[in-house]
Amino acid sequence: MRVLLTGGAGYIGAHTAVALIEAGHDVIIVDDLSGTSAEAVARIETITGAAVPLLVADVRDEAAVAGFVAEHAPVDAVIHLAGLKAVGESMAEPVRYYDVNLGTTIALLKVMDTAGIRSLVFSSSATVYGTPEQLPLTEESPTGIDLANPYGKTKRIIEEILSDAAAADPGLAVVSLRYFNPVGAHTSGLIGEDPNGIPNNLMPFVSRVAIGSLEQVAVFGDDYDTPDGTGLRDYIHVSDLAAGHVAALEHAASGYAVYNLGTGEPVSVLDLIAAFERASGRSIPQVIVARRPGDVAASYADPAKAQRELGWTADLSIDDACRDYWNWQTQNPDGYPRG
Ligand code: UFG
Repeated sequence: MRVLLTGGAGYIGAHTAVALIEAGHDVIIVDDLSGTSAEAVARIETITGAAVPLLVADVRDEAAVAGFVAEHAPVDAVIHLAGLKAVGESMAEPVRYYDVNLGTTIALLKVMDTAGIRSLVFSSSATVYGTPEQLPLTEESPTGIDLANPYGKTKRIIEEILSDAAAADPGLAVVSLRYFNPVGAHTSGLIGEDPNGIPNNLMPFVSRVAIGSLEQVAVFGDDYDTPDGTGLRDYIHVSDLAAGHVAALEHAASGYAVYNLGTGEPVSVLDLIAAFERASGRSIPQVIVARRPGDVAASYADPAKAQRELGWTADLSIDDACRDYWNWQTQNPDGYPRG
């Protein structure tokens, strides 16, 4: 298949591009490079030996994306990963989040319709569940419980839009993948997560502390109702996540489907820091502070549906993820070189 990846130069996109190419598919990428660098695409090419055409554009620019798709016709499928993803920023700039995340999706659906592309995989998030009523989370768990931030709402609204689009057009195959917490990096150390500024998420923050560019990890609360009092999450290696996209694409059937992509294994904040200390051989200073507003105590997947229907499971451990993240971090202490 020839697959268009929007946001294909980003953290999850770059790993997905590698996985697709290694599975025998062709990849073309549109990315505005607002959260990454063209160097990521050069490195996808280094890892795979394949040429990967890149259009630097905002996906809302329908004419540009349509032109790129026509130039590389036939394009068989789209994986839509372009979007804004910072929870805190979405609360400060909600309109921009709705504009970008919904606008890119709608523009893409129009381009797909015109070009006759019938298959779409969407980058959703476990955040759509909001505060879990029951764990582990299955695809049938209610969504939107106390969902307070615009970022999460955009994911939930996009899922609704895609479900409606698939219902109206029997030829369309649409899959939403609800990611749990992506971590790790490609084993080569050539591609990985490259957050702008001070990271919000735990593993990139811990890694910066290990390498010495940040002083200590603030553990957001140790009074949750969890075994060690800190938050439990389902950390999934980004290469497992990437393989989940390939499986979803290869199994996509007409209609709308949703899958959790997680390991099913809850890991606490303290567990993750300890694993990173083992992987890096560094001691990681940490201090317990107050809970972060909006955080849930625990969130982890029941990944059985993806296993049953896509033949996919997460195979890599938190130790693998820490090793690979550290390898990426030490080889690229400042992320990708920026031009
Ligand atoms: N944490 C800390 N210190 C930090 C950062 C995080 O203790 O400096 C803790 C959090 O409290 C939480 C865990 O580490 O218990 C994981 O936090 P992350 O920020 O890494 O991840 P979240 O689970 O909060 O965020 C993820 C996704 C978001 C998504 C959100 C919704 O990264 O995209 O889930 O639940 F919106």
